[in-house]
Amino acid sequence: MNVFITGASSGIGAALAAEYARRGATLGLVARRAEVLAQLAASLPGAHHRYAVDVTDKDALIAAAHAFEQATAASGGTDVVIANAGISAGVLTEHYEDLAALERIYATNVFALAYTFHPFMAAMRARGRGTLVGVASVAGIRGLPGTEAYCASKAAAITYLESLRVGLRGSGVRVVTIAPGFIRTPLTARNPYPMPFLTDPDVFAARAARAIERQVSYTVIPWPMGVVAKLLRLLPNALFDRAFAGRQRKPRDAATTITTPATTSTTATTATTATTATATTATTAAASPAAGAAAGARPDDASDRAG
Ligand SMILES: NC(=O)c1ccc[n+]([C@@H]2O[C@H](COP(=O)([O-])OP(=O)(O)OC[C@H]3O[C@@H](n4cnc5c(N)ncnc54)[C@H](OP(=O)(O)O)[C@@H]3O)[C@@H](O)[C@H]2O)c1
Repeated sequence: MNVFITGASSGIGAALAAEYARRGATLGLVARRAEVLAQLAASLPGAHHRYAVDVTDKDALIAAAHAFEQATAASGGTDVVIANAGISAGVLTEHYEDLAALERIYATNVFALAYTFHPFMAAMRARGRGTLVGVASVAGIRGLPGTEAYCASKAAAITYLESLRVGLRGSGVRVVTIAPGFIRTPLTARNPYPMPFLTDPDVFAARAARAIERQVSYTVIPWPMGVVAKLLRLLPNALFDRAFAGRQRKPRDAATTITTPATTSTTATTATTATTATATTATTAAASPAAGAAAGARPDDASDRAG
């Protein structure tokens, strides 16, 4: 099996990489931090391909996807594409500086979904098989205060994935939407509010891989958060507003440091990395790839982990 995963350098993506490597898959690992991807790949069983790419750089990501398709052509091409890369920060529309953070969150959490899937779609259609997986969030179910960009981006992701799924019906290409609840990763580490049913990334990854195998159309992991999400959806606005108006907010200090043009200039060089990406030959068993990968410093550390 050949699996392409974005946001593989940390948290959920690193745990999914470990899960699929354990299952014997050949992986295409995407994230901005090349050195963390290298550490992760070296900790996994099997030989894998790494692409140090910013997912908001459409052409660099497409080049990476084509490189992975080529690299795996002899073994049938890409079977599963997981668009997982995502960022979160508190955003308040009334602050001018938060508008750039909103743009960055949308670019990463929404537009990059399409950039990730696009380069695989024609080949998957031609083969009459393949699975496109989008990592959304229960945060996309209702708008929570202080997370005006993140909640809206995940709502957009859920609806985008549904359009794609229905549009591809009958083609052999399946679309799976996974909405995580609270998963213990750097993204949630600074959340100031209670996180019910907080789940470890390796537990999440094992459940997600099973859901992907069964090609479910939509699932919430862990499932009790799915029940909570359904109830929240049913709650009348008056009750919802009263219950959540006083909720603690995500820190928005990070939103002011979210990068935009600076990242674009670095990706011009990573595009080259993508097209010349090398397969690793590490065979060491993974001790704790998710934890190990999270240990590296990322380019805009403070901004992306405001969770
Ligand atoms: N943790 C939760 O409770 C939770 C709940 C609901 C949904 N989710 C979703 O799950 C996904 C993964 O989150 P996580 O909790 O695992 O967060 P995380 O530990 O912060 O990991 C985020 C990953 O995305 C990558 N990434 C971010 N921006 C990128 C960019 N522009 N280009 C390429 N890669 C980028 C990061 O790699 P680099 O920094 O190396 O680029 C990192 O590998 C996100 O979509 C998130 O919204 C998480």
